[in-house]
Amino acid sequence: MDKLLLIDDEADMQYSFRRIFGSPHMQVTTASSGEEGLRLVAQVRPDIVISDIRMAGMDGLETLRRIRQLDPKLPVILMTAHGTTQKAIEAMKLGAYDYLLKPFEVPKLQQLVFAAIQAARDMKRVVSYEPLLQSEDYELGIVGRSEPMQAVFKLIGQLAASDATALITGESGTGKELVARAIYHHSRRSQQPFIAINCAAIPENLLESELFGHEKGAFTGATAQRIGKFEQCHGGTVFLDEIGDMSLATQTRMLRVLQSGTFERVGGNETLQADVRIIAATNQPLEQAVARRQFREDLFYRLNVVRLHLPPLRERRADIPLLVNYFLKKIAQQQKLPPKSIAADALAALEACHWPGNVRELENAVHRAVVMAKGDAILPANLPPEVQQGSVVAVATAAEPAPTPPAPAGAAAQPDVADLTAALFAWARQDAKRKLIPAVERELVVNALKETRGNQVQAAKLLGITRATLRKRLEKFGIKQELTVQ
Ligand SMILES: Nc1ncnc2c1ncn2[C@@H]1O[C@H](COP(=O)(O)OP(=O)(O)OP(=O)(O)O)[C@@H](O)[C@H]1O
Ligand SMILES: [Mg+2]
Repeated sequence: MDKLLLIDDEADMQYSFRRIFGSPHMQVTTASSGEEGLRLVAQVRPDIVISDIRMAGMDGLETLRRIRQLDPKLPVILMTAHGTTQKAIEAMKLGAYDYLLKPFEVPKLQQLVFAAIQAARDMKRVVSYEPLLQSEDYELGIVGRSEPMQAVFKLIGQLAASDATALITGESGTGKELVARAIYHHSRRSQQPFIAINCAAIPENLLESELFGHEKGAFTGATAQRIGKFEQCHGGTVFLDEIGDMSLATQTRMLRVLQSGTFERVGGNETLQADVRIIAATNQPLEQAVARRQFREDLFYRLNVVRLHLPPLRERRADIPLLVNYFLKKIAQQQKLPPKSIAADALAALEACHWPGNVRELENAVHRAVVMAKGDAILPANLPPEVQQGSVVAVATAAEPAPTPPAPAGAAAQPDVADLTAALFAWARQDAKRKLIPAVERELVVNALKETRGNQVQAAKLLGITRATLRKRLEKFGIKQELTVQ
């Protein structure tokens, strides 16, 4: 029989857990505080612990820390109704199995609990766990509650707990640097320096000496010895931004640093030891640079061991309202003024936009709107013109087949349905009398018939409806003669 321990000071939650999990196969024990929970961990020896984060007395994170000391392999799931990125990262760094945002769906909870119990069983066969790390209170500005961002937070927590090289990928403005800093701030190197170097901003011939230093006379103009960032940053973290722009010569030195932790200054013989953690970022697909032989394959594999991909903003639109509010508050703070609010239709326009420049572009748009808004609230008219009517145009570009990379075999390149829907709403808003569903339906039917040269069987298949339904639509929209005769 598996044993579940719930630590939560709310009686309702205790009742729910007993109801959800209590069965002949599962014994449910409940504790009302972290302190009681710890006693029960020792006494009951549960297979899984689920703990609330916010509790009077010892909070969930501290409870987790103590549980990990008692039994590092006992899976602990934390629950919070106040899903801050801070807590999520902290919890993962402390070795939480996972965390849940309240309110949660019961099937999801059950799935997680059973998976955790299984994982703990598996883990007992392998003896390995990271040493525990001290926590710090860092104010992190990574906003997001969408599923893709939850996954990002988890990975940040895991990366922070390790010293592994990390590669952060994502389009421009998705927050790669922010994430690199988050990993650093939560890592054991957080008391040591963090140096960010933009490989694209430094001339090719200077980057090598910037990173590794040089000896006097190493090249024309090297009038004195120079200490590079790797030496300067000993014990710390080096963030190599735009690593795809690094020259092949510098890449060779980098590879050696990653493989053996050693390097020489340019023009020098002395072998130096580099104790730095490397976090790299790129917005170019490195795989393609490897294919073009502009990026060393061996270096790519070294960097790619742990990859954190930041999805574009259009794939996490649920975060847009949160981000907008966050930026409104941030701007107000900078301006020492009360934050402006945003009208629902203005927010809807922001949500509908394609955002090729991602979070940075959204932040700029909000900034501009704050400046433009005369009153306390931001109205659609205060938004940049491309946001006011831009989503349709932007989506049209996005729906074009991507030139590179080719879609993986078996998966057809698909325009994002959410993008298309957003564009349709933007289109409908321009004409209040437009009936969106019939208008779209008619377009779809007409296009399906054009596509299939009037073949009704194929058109119906394409639309995912029966031929009879298609006929009814043809009648309804009066498009029979127009298209079906080929
Ligand atoms: N999730 C987020 N929450 C709050 N702010 C964010 C978030 N993501 C990005 N930002 C903000 O957006 C801006 C761009 O982020 P950042 O510089 O980290 O992007 P990047 O991916 O490094 O872009 P580039 O490839 O152009 O260098 C910054 O001001 C950052 O603070
Ligand atoms: Mg950047």
